[in-house]
Amino acid sequence: MSSLQNRVSEILQGFEVSHDRIRAISDEFIRLTNQGLKSNKEAMAMIPSYVTAVPTGKESGTFLAVDLGGTNFRVCSVHLNGNGTFKLIQSKSVIPKSLMVGSSKELFSFLARHVDAFIKTHLDEKFTEDTESSTSQHILKLGFTFSFPVNQTAINKGTLLRWTKGFNIKDAVGKDVCKLLQDELDALKLPVHVSALVNDTVGTLMSRAYSAPGLGNTMLGVILGTGTNCAYVENISSISKISLQSDKNIMVVNTEWGSFDNALTVLPFTSIDSEVDGNSPNPGYHMFEKLVSGMFLGEILRITLCNLHKEGVLFSSSSESLELPWSIDTSTLSKIEADNTEDLSKTKETISMDLNIVATLEECKAIKKIVNAIGKRSAYLAGAAICGILTHTRALEKMETVDIGLDGSVFEFYPGYENLMRESIKYLLGEDEKRVMLDIAKDGSGVGAALCALVA
Ligand code: BGC
Repeated sequence: MSSLQNRVSEILQGFEVSHDRIRAISDEFIRLTNQGLKSNKEAMAMIPSYVTAVPTGKESGTFLAVDLGGTNFRVCSVHLNGNGTFKLIQSKSVIPKSLMVGSSKELFSFLARHVDAFIKTHLDEKFTEDTESSTSQHILKLGFTFSFPVNQTAINKGTLLRWTKGFNIKDAVGKDVCKLLQDELDALKLPVHVSALVNDTVGTLMSRAYSAPGLGNTMLGVILGTGTNCAYVENISSISKISLQSDKNIMVVNTEWGSFDNALTVLPFTSIDSEVDGNSPNPGYHMFEKLVSGMFLGEILRITLCNLHKEGVLFSSSSESLELPWSIDTSTLSKIEADNTEDLSKTKETISMDLNIVATLEECKAIKKIVNAIGKRSAYLAGAAICGILTHTRALEKMETVDIGLDGSVFEFYPGYENLMRESIKYLLGEDEKRVMLDIAKDGSGVGAALCALVA
């Protein structure tokens, strides 16, 4: 074996998720789930959403939704037709990097200005009159999809616990994000009321339940995109950290599984991951997310290749993209993963286009194996965490099939991701894996937010 092959097989071992480890992860997940439901101090925060019903598909009305949570910012109006279908108008913009690390005033006034522009462009007089959800003064209800860990204390109240996914606006931490948005909307005198604070996973669960009427078994909403997280339907009586006077039995809980096992007791964490973590804006936090989500898969690959180059076993020359942190996107991995050519010509082309490096066939083979291991580890970990929740809720004991709504670029575009997730689910659940339905829930952050605004 060449020295490159030797090093690659060592690296692959580090990324491997053995069957024993899948089980250990699922068990630890159940333990931390129970802890988080009891106490507010846990990193895997198990945040009550104050959403106490899952849609039936019959909901109707028109709502505004704002979505802040990843690379893009969206404003939409959503009309729910009351039969599982909806009409959505949206405007999407990239959030300038400077706003991700500036002040809360700058960010939230930027959001409010976009809402203003959206209303002026899309919501004319007629629309406003038609709006069933508005009061006689035409106040529009807005669902705010804010996909970061918050301490949620009511359906439209929540203080930011910490930023993730590259955001780092220090003065916003500890503040009520609904109030920050409402203040800026009020400053522009907009007839909009922030009625619901919604995590994207909660929105995904709601939107899947709405669009799959009749199934009545949507229990989880999962995001596998820039970040990763899951929300699920819990018995209110099990959320012992809150006391709620309610005649309702269930509440959707946002797990914040990105922070599963920050203590690194069961995760397959390597020295490469340690470098990724060290370069991130939130070292030591959201460790599960750093092995699973799209924001990190590219960086894991970049650091691996960069180290191999420094050791003198890969690439005869370097490039700016190889050296520059965060310069490799998950789409690079997706393209390499999808390469079925015998001579790996697609891999060679991708490395040339995305890294500006000419790779040999041996190097392409090595890189494809590394990519495969990074993607597989991500999917196996996501599958193990899903099993943790299914076991905790005993959903498969109560229902014939359990429906899971998913969204995010990794789940949607990474070749073979669902099958890999299923492999790890199957390892833990055996034949019951067939009773787990995984399906894309599109527009969770728009439609789901509208549904939450309606519930509110
Ligand atoms: C956030 C979650 C969010 C997830 C997916 C994570 O970084 O902490 O709140 O749901 O990303 O967007």
